[in-house]
Amino acid sequence: MNQAEIDAGVTVVGHPLILHKLSIMRRKATSTGKFRQLLREISLLLAYEVTRDLPLAFESIETPLTAYDAPTIEGKKLCLIAILRAGDGLVQGILDLVPSARVGHIGLYRDPKTLLAVEYFYKVPDLAGRLVIVVDPMLATGHTAIAAVTRLKQSGAQHIKFLCLLSAPEGIRAFREAHPDVPVFTAAIDDHLNDHGYIVPGLGDAGDRLYGTK
Ligand code: URA
Repeated sequence: MNQAEIDAGVTVVGHPLILHKLSIMRRKATSTGKFRQLLREISLLLAYEVTRDLPLAFESIETPLTAYDAPTIEGKKLCLIAILRAGDGLVQGILDLVPSARVGHIGLYRDPKTLLAVEYFYKVPDLAGRLVIVVDPMLATGHTAIAAVTRLKQSGAQHIKFLCLLSAPEGIRAFREAHPDVPVFTAAIDDHLNDHGYIVPGLGDAGDRLYGTK
């Protein structure tokens, strides 16, 4: 896949409010509580962009003044899939905007010997006919995201988008090559991955910063 084909499926949501909040999250001195609050706020703003093309239908309603064909969101409720554990930090902000969305969770870890993703938790709603938005703050190597989307496709998901906060060019390339039908939405693309698989400049371990576990 050439760079133009990769870029065609990537939306960088570089709104000034998002970038400002993200810069505060990147600071190592930012507290757990503040980090969590900012992730929730940014996820709401990212959700606005990722749902931009939801189909509308028209419903006849009565306003206090007249009959009106009102635009409403058509089809089944959309579904959020959080990749555990950091993906959970993106869910609440999106639910603030789309309160009726269904929510599923997928837990994967990387086997240190085989380096393959191993599933330890999987609970998702009916996925057929829904827009499925997979959320994880960091798209680093892309291995977990690729495995999660492969699993969701096996469960019947047909219309999937991947939403993250920060991504590495390496992860975007790997993900787009594995799932060219799944567009990626990210607030920023950072410089590179380091030898430990961390995004640089990045913000550190998103799970640890979100839950205060380090
Ligand atoms: N996961 C994280 O939490 N941070 C990174 O930088 C890469 C993967």
